[in-house]
Amino acid sequence: MMRDANPQSAIRNPHSVRKAVIPAAGMGTRFLPATKSMPKEMLPIVDTPVLQFVIEEAVASGIDDILIVTGRGKRAIENHFDFNPELEGFLAAAGKHQLIEQVRGIGDRARIHYIRQKEQLGLGDAIRLGRDHVGDQPFAVLLGDTIIDPPDGQRPGLRQILDVFEEKQASVVAVHRVPREWVSRYGIVDGEPEPNNRDLVRLRQLVEKPAVDQAPSDLAIAGRYVFTPEIFDCIDATGRGVGGEIQLTDAMNLLAQRQPMYALAWQAKRYDIGNRVEYAKCFIDFALRRPETAKAVREHLSKVLGGA
Ligand code: UTP
Repeated sequence: MMRDANPQSAIRNPHSVRKAVIPAAGMGTRFLPATKSMPKEMLPIVDTPVLQFVIEEAVASGIDDILIVTGRGKRAIENHFDFNPELEGFLAAAGKHQLIEQVRGIGDRARIHYIRQKEQLGLGDAIRLGRDHVGDQPFAVLLGDTIIDPPDGQRPGLRQILDVFEEKQASVVAVHRVPREWVSRYGIVDGEPEPNNRDLVRLRQLVEKPAVDQAPSDLAIAGRYVFTPEIFDCIDATGRGVGGEIQLTDAMNLLAQRQPMYALAWQAKRYDIGNRVEYAKCFIDFALRRPETAKAVREHLSKVLGGA
């Protein structure tokens, strides 16, 4: 999977980012009833939970320390990234040694820590819980319900914005271009493209779900961020916003007033798993790519859609 970056190169760079916070404590109301007893971050894409893809992206980007913010369903997440001697014993007795390596390696690639968000007070609040763990260092944020799938040959999603961070030493948010008529579903970037790189935007502010005719651009926030530690003060200074939640967008706007911030427009596909249609698309796209499933799923789809 996404393991082409060399984590050691990041560790040698004194300005590099070592830690990531992954919020995975949301209620997932858009995905009920599945999320009644299971976090949406544990939904499988073919046979792999969403959160495992997110962690593999972080590790492939050079992150070696991950804090997962959990809520309900904590046990399912912790168990997945822990050893399971009983399962390993069962697989050994059945002679399935390759599977043993697969399940054992899942939690081995980074140091994984957990903190519990007691009340679902929003994304800003979830990230604030990382303050003690992160300390006075820049850090990455990966939404635990979002899979980023760059085109073949490109670096992992998070790595692309870490590269910008290392060059600019400023906070960076990943964005993707969306059709104009969709802008009112997203946080949209207002800013000035850099003269030497049109995909890099010096961010003025983020506008939450603007009307189509008032949107400052077609660049929508994509679920990956690198922040300087000043974001924590900005979250503290942000009151509860829409829906009584502490909105990360509000805190980011405060940060953009205090320090330079950038948005990187990338080509990667973004799947918001909390949205049923995007979940279905992600499952199908990945099933069509996996050698074990590709042929049968393609045949099935063409049979089902034959008359469409
Ligand atoms: P969403 O904005 O999708 O919110 O969260 P949600 O509550 O999970 O889902 P809906 O809207 O009710 O269906 C984006 C990410 O932030 C995490 C979620 O787990 C998800 O990975 N999150 C959100 C938290 O960790 N805590 C929160 O209070 C809210």
